[in-house]
Amino acid sequence: MKDIQGNTTDGLAVSVRNLRKSFKGKMVLREVTFNVREGEVFGIIGPNGAGKTTTLRILSGIITEYEGDVKIFGLTPSEAKLKGLMSYMPEDSFPYERLTGVENLWFFAMIYAKGDKKLAEEYLERGIKIADLGDKINEKASSYSRGMKRRLMIARTLMVKPRLAILDEPTSALDVISAVKIRETIKTFAKKENATILLSSHNMLEVDFMCDRVALINSGQTVIQGTPKEIVEATQTRNLEEAFIKVTNVV
Ligand SMILES: Nc1ncnc2c1ncn2[C@@H]1O[C@H](COP(=O)(O)OP(=O)(O)O)[C@@H](O)[C@H]1O
Ligand SMILES: [Mg+2]
Repeated sequence: MKDIQGNTTDGLAVSVRNLRKSFKGKMVLREVTFNVREGEVFGIIGPNGAGKTTTLRILSGIITEYEGDVKIFGLTPSEAKLKGLMSYMPEDSFPYERLTGVENLWFFAMIYAKGDKKLAEEYLERGIKIADLGDKINEKASSYSRGMKRRLMIARTLMVKPRLAILDEPTSALDVISAVKIRETIKTFAKKENATILLSSHNMLEVDFMCDRVALINSGQTVIQGTPKEIVEATQTRNLEEAFIKVTNVV
C-alpha cells in the first residue's frame, strides 16, 4: 500500500519504533514501539504516568522533539499534521462554554473545511449525529454535564472523518453511564466508517470492548501488544488487568 506521497506504508496508519523522550533530563518514554493498522481501533493502555499522553502528543505533532522513528501514513507527525490527516482530542479537553453545541461543532468544522461551507455543513451534520445530544445541542455548552461535554468533543474530533483519530482518555473521569455511551459511540463510528482510531485509557477492562488491538505501556515502555485475546492467552490470565500485573510484576 502507498501513502499519498507514494511512500510504502504496508497498511500501517501509525508506526512507532524505539520512541524515547526526556523532559529536562527526566526519561519519560524509554522504549515505546507499536503499530496501528489502517481501519483498526488501537488502544494504548497503562496506569497514570506511564507515558500515554506524551506518546499521543508526539504523534499529534504537538511535541516535535523526540528520539526514535515515528511515522503516520509514512510521514512524520508534523507533515501529517500539515496535511490534515489526523484529528486529535487532548486529555481533559472542553468545549467553549459560551457557545452552543452546534456553534462549537461549526467553529471546528469551518477550520477543518478551510472555509468550504458545503463541506463544513457535511461535518456539522455528522457531528450532531455523533454527539447525539438531542435538543441540548442548541443550548450553551455551559449547561452540559461532563459526559455531554465529552461527547461533543468526541463528535468534534470524529465528524471530519480524519484518516487517523487520536483520542486521549475518551472516557476518563466520567460516570458509568456516560462512559458506556461513549464506548458505544466510538465502536459504532469505527465500524460504520472503517475509521482508524488510536485511543488511550488507564481502564484496562474497557479497552477489551472497544479495541481490536492494544499495547500495554508501563514506565515509558511497551511491555506487550496484540489483540486482547492474544495477550490474555500469552500470559495465561483472565483479562488485560491481570495480564498487565503479570507482565510488569507490579503487585
Ligand atoms: N511537560 C512535561 N514536563 C515534565 N514532565 C512531564 C511533562 N509531561 C509529562 N511529564 C511526566 O511524564 C510522565 C508521563 O506522563 P504522561 O505522558 O502524561 O502519562 P499518562 O498519560 O500515561 O498518565 C509523568 O511522570 C509526567 O509527570
Ligand atoms: Mg494521560
